[in-house]
Amino acid sequence: IENLTQRAKEVLNGNFQAEGFTIPSKGLYPFQWKWDSGFIAIGFAHYDMEKAKAEIGTLLKAQWDNGFIPHIVFHTENDSYFPGADFHQSNLHPQSSKKYRSTGMTQPPVTGFVLQEMYRIADDKQDLLRFIEEHIDKVYQNHAYFYTHRDPNNEGLMYIYHNWESGTDNSPVWDAIWETMNPPHYDVKRKDTTHVDVSQRPSNREYDHYLYLIDIAKEHRYDDAKIAELSPFLVQDPLFNAMLIKSNEALIELYGLIGNNTEKIRQLKQWQEKSIRGCNEKLFDEALGAYVHYDLRNDRPIRHVTSSSFSPLFAKIPDQDRAAILVKTMLERFGGDDKYLCASFDPTDERFDPRKYWRGPVWINMNWMLYYGLKNYGFLKIAERMRKDSIELIERDGFYEYFDCRKDNGEPNRRGYGGSNFSWSAALLIDLLK
Ligand code: DGY
Repeated sequence: IENLTQRAKEVLNGNFQAEGFTIPSKGLYPFQWKWDSGFIAIGFAHYDMEKAKAEIGTLLKAQWDNGFIPHIVFHTENDSYFPGADFHQSNLHPQSSKKYRSTGMTQPPVTGFVLQEMYRIADDKQDLLRFIEEHIDKVYQNHAYFYTHRDPNNEGLMYIYHNWESGTDNSPVWDAIWETMNPPHYDVKRKDTTHVDVSQRPSNREYDHYLYLIDIAKEHRYDDAKIAELSPFLVQDPLFNAMLIKSNEALIELYGLIGNNTEKIRQLKQWQEKSIRGCNEKLFDEALGAYVHYDLRNDRPIRHVTSSSFSPLFAKIPDQDRAAILVKTMLERFGGDDKYLCASFDPTDERFDPRKYWRGPVWINMNWMLYYGLKNYGFLKIAERMRKDSIELIERDGFYEYFDCRKDNGEPNRRGYGGSNFSWSAALLIDLLK
């Protein structure tokens, strides 16, 4: 364990940049990604709190005047990634950062619960509370942005307008949405497939859809109201909303520790109640025994079971009975003895692909959330399996971006795919080994 933790620290230290943030993986992802940064800070918090603070401090510096936090901050010039800052042109938005170049889309709202995790881990609680005091209002403003601009029907459920906002980029969940669109073909140079084998990445046709959605947003200067009105992709995602709810709860706790913030706590509790109700009433699918995505543009639920379907456990959204239903679904579809937990997409579905990014592989950040989520409800045996499986995959194959869930995949000791020396796999392993 000592040895594995040491190797994880070497991965993180190696990816840390002088500008005060950590790249997810060399070559493939050379900038700062929002949700990666959050998970990375949790790893650093265990052995180098100054780096953990730098990670979150740097991310929050790139916040826009309207509270929005972008999904990628382009701190450096680097042409090994596409689409870069010149494609995104997020400065079209009048309130975008004047100092940092970024995308005009966001990623799951991790920052609130990451501050709470850093506090849990910190030895010097006083010092960390001072750091939190300096930064927490920015996170609150970010939540206010969501509730003001991303919930047009006032359901407590935020929409995402791009698959990259979900974090689960090429999930089969989006396939039916792509069928409603017919974007032009983009004659562009993909860079991801120069770093990673094409069989492990999204297809070119999928990229046409991704780029077209950005062009529509650009055409309207990234105006939220216009996007809500016009984007062919408009989805309420259980993972995105579970992370917001988890972060709401964290902010309530942290403001309580700081004191003198009754008005913000009152507002957060009101948001929280609405969002938990929204999730339970709209996103739970009784027949599947799982939370599902909702396609707001085409007004229909997207009835697939994914690892995101279980993420409400992390934010204590279901009651105990419903949590038990989720565990049953997880064990039946994802949890056979021949598999590691937890595939990102339903292994019993014909669209399952064990090596292709978010169409099947195991992701360590999802396993980390599900581990804590299962513990929330006292499902200790399956929680422990989630933890052990995560450790075993990394120990055998290395700090990869994602892993084949099949114990026998025909290639002994080759279950790791995508980027190598991947930061959040290292960061969260450090936490799981504690
Ligand atoms: C990518 O480039 O694949 C990233 O995941 C986008 O966020």
